[in-house]
Amino acid sequence: MIFSSSLWHFCILSLLLSYGVLQTSELTSAHHYRTGYHFQPRRNWMNDPNGPLIYKGIYHLFYQYNPRGTGAGYRHIVWAHSTSTDLINWIPHNDAIYPSETFDINGCWSGSVTILPGGKPAIFYTGVNSQNEQAQNLAFPRNLSDPFLKEWVKIPQNPLISATPANHINASSFRDPSTAWLGPDHRWRLIVGSRKGKTGLAILYRSRDFLKWTKAKHPLHSTKENGMWECPDFFPVSKTKLLGLDTSATGPNVKHVFKVSLDNTKKEYYTTGTYNVEKDIYIPDKGSVESDNSGLRYDYGKFYASKTFFDSAKNRRILWGWINESSSVKGDINKGWSGLQAVPRTVLLDKSGKELVQWPIVELEKLRTKHVKLPNIVLKEGSLHRVLGVTPAQAVVEITFEISDLKKAEVFDPSWTDPQTLCSKKGASVKGGLGPFGLLVLASKGLKENTAVFYRIFKSQNNKYKYVVLMCSDQSRSSLNQDNDMITYGTFVNVDPVHEKLSLRSLIDHSIVESFGGLGKACITARVYPKLTVDGDTRLYIFNYGNESVEITGDVWSMKTAKMN
Ligand code: FRU
Repeated sequence: MIFSSSLWHFCILSLLLSYGVLQTSELTSAHHYRTGYHFQPRRNWMNDPNGPLIYKGIYHLFYQYNPRGTGAGYRHIVWAHSTSTDLINWIPHNDAIYPSETFDINGCWSGSVTILPGGKPAIFYTGVNSQNEQAQNLAFPRNLSDPFLKEWVKIPQNPLISATPANHINASSFRDPSTAWLGPDHRWRLIVGSRKGKTGLAILYRSRDFLKWTKAKHPLHSTKENGMWECPDFFPVSKTKLLGLDTSATGPNVKHVFKVSLDNTKKEYYTTGTYNVEKDIYIPDKGSVESDNSGLRYDYGKFYASKTFFDSAKNRRILWGWINESSSVKGDINKGWSGLQAVPRTVLLDKSGKELVQWPIVELEKLRTKHVKLPNIVLKEGSLHRVLGVTPAQAVVEITFEISDLKKAEVFDPSWTDPQTLCSKKGASVKGGLGPFGLLVLASKGLKENTAVFYRIFKSQNNKYKYVVLMCSDQSRSSLNQDNDMITYGTFVNVDPVHEKLSLRSLIDHSIVESFGGLGKACITARVYPKLTVDGDTRLYIFNYGNESVEITGDVWSMKTAKMN
C-alpha cells in the first residue's frame, strides 16, 4: 500500500499525540518549521549531499540519510536519491546505495560521482565494514538508458581502495572520495580525506582504468594541526569567464579551489591556488589558509560537508551543502526530521581572483510570486520599517544600502580579529556609527523574537579612507525556546563602501535564513525556530540603529512552495 506523505505524517502524529509524547502546540510548531523551498526528504535524518550530477537532462542528488529516525545513525546510513529537471522541484526514488555487502555493512558513507568518457556515471563512496574500517567502493548504474538512474550495482572487485598497514593509513579516518579528474597523462586522479596524527590529508590516488588505483607518494594537499579532513573537494575555476569548468580542466586561464570540511570544528574552509600538474600537488595562494579567522569559508553559519559538480547543460559549477538543525534532539523528534540542504549555489571566481562568489541558482526565481518593490527611502537613525504585502516566513529579500557620508564610522580596533565574536559583542541592538542596519526576519509582533541580519562599517585606525565591513546574523533573540542553539555568526566582507553599494539577499524559509552579502562574497546561514509566530503572524522589517542615515532600495518576493520529495 502506498501512503501519501501527508497521510503518513498524520498517522504518526496521531499516534504520538495519543501516547502523550507530544503536545498539540509542539506539533503546530513542528509543521511551522518545515521549509517551503529547501531540499529535504519527507522525514528523518539527512546529512551530506552526495554525488550530485546531471544525466540525460535530469539532475540527481544523492544524500546521506538515516531511514530509521531523526538521529545520525551512521551505521545505517544510505545514499538516498532524488531527481529534478530544475534543481528546485524534486521527486524521490528508492535508496540508491545501502548497506548490503561485507565492505559496507556498517554504513554507506559519502562520496562523489565522476562522468566517464562516453557519459557513464560512476559513484565512488566510502563503505564501512563490520570492523568499522573505511574503504572506497565503486558502483555503476544498472541501466544506462534510464535517465533516473534508479538502480546501482556495486562492482565485485570492491573494496577498490583500502587502508592497509603498509600504506600507513588509519582505516577509521579514510573517507569521502572526490570526483575524479583526468590528467594530461590520461590517468585518473581522485582524493580521499584522511589524517596522520593532527595533520589533515587529501590522499591522492591514480588509475589508468578507473579500477586499479595506486596511492601517490605525496598527498595532493595537507595542512598541519587541523585534524581529519572530511569531504575534500577540488575543482578548477575560470579566471576569465563567468562560467564553470569541467573538473578535469586545466590551463593558463584556470585557477584551482580546494575545499575541506574539518571534522574537529565542523567548519569548512576553501583556498584558491595552483594545481601543479607535473608534481601533482596543489599549492594554495599566499595567505590563503584553512584556519580559523583568516581562512575563507563558503558560509560563516551552518554549512558543512559540501560538494560541487559541473553542470554541463548550463556550463556552471553548482555547490550543494548540508545545513543541520540548531534545535535539540527532542525538537528534532517533534519535527520528525533533521537536516536540509542549502539552496544550490552557482560558484565563480571573484574578479579579484582571491575568493569565490556564490549566488542561488537562477532557477530559484521561478518560485517568486507576490512582488513588493521597496520604496526608495532614507532610514534615519533608529528607524524600523515593516514590509507588508508578502508572506514573510517564505520570502526572498534583495536590498541595497547606500550611505552618502561615511564620517560617522567607528574606528576599527585591530584586536578585533574574530568577526563572529565582534558580531556577538555588537549585536543588532547595540547602537553604532554606521550600522547596525539590515533586516529583522522571522520576527514576532512586538519583536520579542527576531533574527537580525545586518551590517556595520568601521574605519581603519591608520588609514581614514579604508573601511572594514562586518556582516552579522544575530540569532540571540530568534526564539523564546532556550533549548535551541542561538549563536551569532559573523564575517568581514571584502566590499569597499566608498565605491560600492552594500547589498544583502536573504532567503527566508520558515526555519532557515540563508543570507548573501556583497553580491555573494560572503554567506551566512542560520537555523531558527521562533515560538511566538506559530499562529502565522510572522513579520519582516528593515532597520537602521546606526547614527548615520542609510538609503535603501530593493525588492521582496513571496516564494511558492516547491514540489519536495
Ligand atoms: C561528514 C561525514 C563524512 C562521512 C559522512 C557519514 O558529515 O562525517 O565524513 O562520510 O558524514 O554520514
